[in-house]
Amino acid sequence: MSANIYPVPESLTQGTYLSEETYKAMYDESVNNPEAFWAKQVEELDWYKTPTIIKNTDFSPEKCDIRWFEDGKLNASYNCIDRHLKDHAKKVAIFWEGDSPENSEKVTYQQLHYEVCKLANGLKKLGVKKGDRVAIYMPMVPHAAYAMLACARIGAVHSVIFGGFSPNAIADRINNSDAKVVITADEGRRAGRSVPLKANVDEALLNNACPSITAVLTHKLTGGQVNWNDDVDVWWHELTDECSGQCEPEVMDAEDPLFILYTSGSTGQPKGVVHTTGGYLLYTSLTFRYAFDYKPDDIYWCTADVGWITGHSYMTYGPLANGATQVFFEGVPTYPDIRRIAQVVEKYGVNSLYTAPTAIRALMAHGEKPVEGCDLSSLRILGSVGEPINPEAWQWYHKVIGQSRCPIIDSWWQTETGGMMIAPMPCATALKPGSATRPFFGIQPALFDAEGNELEDAAEGNLVIKDSWPSQARTVYGDHKRFIDTYFSAYPNVYFTGDGARRDTDDYYWITGRVDDVLNVSGHRLGTAEIESALVSHNVIAEAAVVGYPHDIKGQGIYVYVTPNDGVVADEALTLEIRKWVRKELSPIATPDLVQWTNGLPKTRSGKIMRRILRKIAANEYEQLGDTSTLADPTVVESLIDKRLNR
Ligand code: PRX
Repeated sequence: MSANIYPVPESLTQGTYLSEETYKAMYDESVNNPEAFWAKQVEELDWYKTPTIIKNTDFSPEKCDIRWFEDGKLNASYNCIDRHLKDHAKKVAIFWEGDSPENSEKVTYQQLHYEVCKLANGLKKLGVKKGDRVAIYMPMVPHAAYAMLACARIGAVHSVIFGGFSPNAIADRINNSDAKVVITADEGRRAGRSVPLKANVDEALLNNACPSITAVLTHKLTGGQVNWNDDVDVWWHELTDECSGQCEPEVMDAEDPLFILYTSGSTGQPKGVVHTTGGYLLYTSLTFRYAFDYKPDDIYWCTADVGWITGHSYMTYGPLANGATQVFFEGVPTYPDIRRIAQVVEKYGVNSLYTAPTAIRALMAHGEKPVEGCDLSSLRILGSVGEPINPEAWQWYHKVIGQSRCPIIDSWWQTETGGMMIAPMPCATALKPGSATRPFFGIQPALFDAEGNELEDAAEGNLVIKDSWPSQARTVYGDHKRFIDTYFSAYPNVYFTGDGARRDTDDYYWITGRVDDVLNVSGHRLGTAEIESALVSHNVIAEAAVVGYPHDIKGQGIYVYVTPNDGVVADEALTLEIRKWVRKELSPIATPDLVQWTNGLPKTRSGKIMRRILRKIAANEYEQLGDTSTLADPTVVESLIDKRLNR
């Protein structure tokens, strides 16, 4: 292992503010004396009232009450915009790069302020008040950031719904959060195709399916045809036309909710993870600055979508709180051709690029072609997020995109953690391909075995975090019990991540992937339960079980076992129909890769599906099934192996 170490590049050891020594000293203080450490960090933000109570957190399963900076008062939009205006009003906040390379735009901090204030006033006109929920279903245009920040400005709680979700998934999320208004666009654009955003919202709202919604606010992006209902529909430009470009920010408590973001779990419907204002903003601002060794003239580009946590923490709040200039990209890395990432890096002189292993693997398949003829000399730091990065992809990213010069910040974190938890510091941490390396300030990772014993030294086990950190989720919206059950009941008094990890002899962490029934498909987090529920809502399907299997590009693919109802002929046409069905019911990202029809599923005598067996067969590891003696009908397994699809 030690042969494969990448030391901090010489160019980054000079004149930077976070060397190995400072990292160690700050880390030690952050875990030994968190109160003192975080009391100093509050200077990161502008407060109406600087907090004096720093940490008040309790992980006990009876209570689970997490508060940071609780007597502090601030506004997130003020911190992301207004405080930069005095000296940097003309600085570009967003370079927007369209799906088509011919479309681009730039937005200065001054313009950002104007647009956000106008919309904030518009939302007030629609009756949105502090504490109300606003759903946002937008493509990757600056208006998505305006919408989030306008909510933050007036104290409304935004709930962004990924633009790839289907009408049913939109309705579920709107209803769970009781959103008052939904903000969308006529259409989105992706790789030259249009995405019917407004039409999807219309369908979600059909037959009064979302009774809490009083207005649908639509940004005219493509000018495409949309249906219009005067009772609820409002054009963004018409609403804001006469609104003032000044809007006083609402004074918020540090623990007031900033947003809800739905994410998939092992069971049931997605959970609305709640993040609050002070701790979240401080932690994302700080991690952004350190992990990307941010300097004021940097151009930063994160290729995520605002619909996911990365788009919240490291495209909206973290960079903007730092007054950074960033690229907002509407398109996909391979359109119009596989050099698009490199072309955008060259066009804007990008210094830090933060992307996902799935994009890296898709490009890697083309060797050096993705960078041919492009000048990538501006790049200084590369980041990776969303799923484990395999060492081959790491090395390709390092060599071909990073030209063997740029460190790779492989950052492990989750929707629930709000910000990066385990990640190298570019100027301090020697790298090992495939390892997220060491914890950020205040983060105390530990490994537990299934019996709840903490593992010491080099070991592999379930990853937990032993104490609270400022950007930790506070609850599941409307269901605190589910929050406690999911994260604090597997092991008492620690946060359970749902991931497995290995710690090596240098105390570096290697994330091995989820240990629960959550899939990670192309960096998109999906619950097997959600896909199963979409499947069984089709009238030909009696029963369904979904598992992940190793996939070269996507990391994990979706393998579906389905039992047809009596008399149904399961042929290729039906398989196609089922794949389309899941696409439509849930999302194109949830489309099954492999569909195996079967007359039965392996179950215990008490009727529980033995997923362990299904996972092994899907991975083509059918020779290592382990003990099958507890199955009600062991012959089912023979037939499943016989007809397995991943050979
Ligand atoms: O399994 C881990 C994986 O993604 C999960 C979190 O997904 P989500 O909440 O959608 O957030 C993704 C963006 C932060 C984790 O439980 N994951 C995320 N980053 C990494 C990772 N696995 C390995 N290495 C990473 N760097």
